[in-house]
Amino acid sequence: MSKPHWRPAHISDLPAMSAIAARIHPDLPERPEVLAEKMRLYPDGCCVLAADDAIAGYGLSHPWKRQQIPPLDRLLERLPGDADCLYVHDVAVLSDFRGGVARDYVATIEKLARASGIAALALVSVYATRPLWESFGFQPVTADAELRSKLASYGEGAIYMLRDLAAAPRADI
Ligand SMILES: CC(C)(COP(=O)(O)OP(=O)(O)OC[C@H]1O[C@@H](n2cnc3c(N)ncnc32)[C@H](O)[C@@H]1OP(=O)(O)O)[C@@H](O)C(=O)NCCC(=O)NCCS
Repeated sequence: MSKPHWRPAHISDLPAMSAIAARIHPDLPERPEVLAEKMRLYPDGCCVLAADDAIAGYGLSHPWKRQQIPPLDRLLERLPGDADCLYVHDVAVLSDFRGGVARDYVATIEKLARASGIAALALVSVYATRPLWESFGFQPVTADAELRSKLASYGEGAIYMLRDLAAAPRADI
């Protein structure tokens, strides 16, 4: 088997992506059209992890505003014209294919943000993944009341995190 690698997601990958989403996020379901819309609005941020002929994971990101999070399972309609972050909506990889791949996806998204003049990455950490994101340079951000109420829809323990790309680069990333 060749080493799994990230490549741009195509609409034909949608059934495989939805199947992975349903398996990994049974409590945070999203309709296929919600994933498809992100691929249409911002294809550059949407990748799949290709493992030979199979899809073993996906990563979805899009420009957004800091301190704001799109509700789960809702269409974005449009991207903000004055985006100030790339929002990592989800990275999900089947367990047999984990190990270094989230790091590679985040590196891709970081390059994309820098090339687009966007100075931060943002995400909502779920499933106690805070240490993972911290190891990539993300930091928890104190949520205001409005953000807190939106975080609740991501499950207990969801944390809003930002990585400031303008900060000095970390030697270990
Ligand atoms: C999150 C996910 C994509 C990470 O994939 P991965 O290939 O294991 O990630 P990486 O190996 O690139 O991660 C980098 C580091 O984080 C560590 N790590 C992985 N999962 C972790 C977790 N849940 N909590 C803490 N650390 C974690 C890895 O051991 C690795 O550390 P190392 O480089 O020192 O060995 C994968 O675990 C997954 O699909 N999880 C389920 C979905 C999920 O939680 N998505 C994120 C939602 S916010």
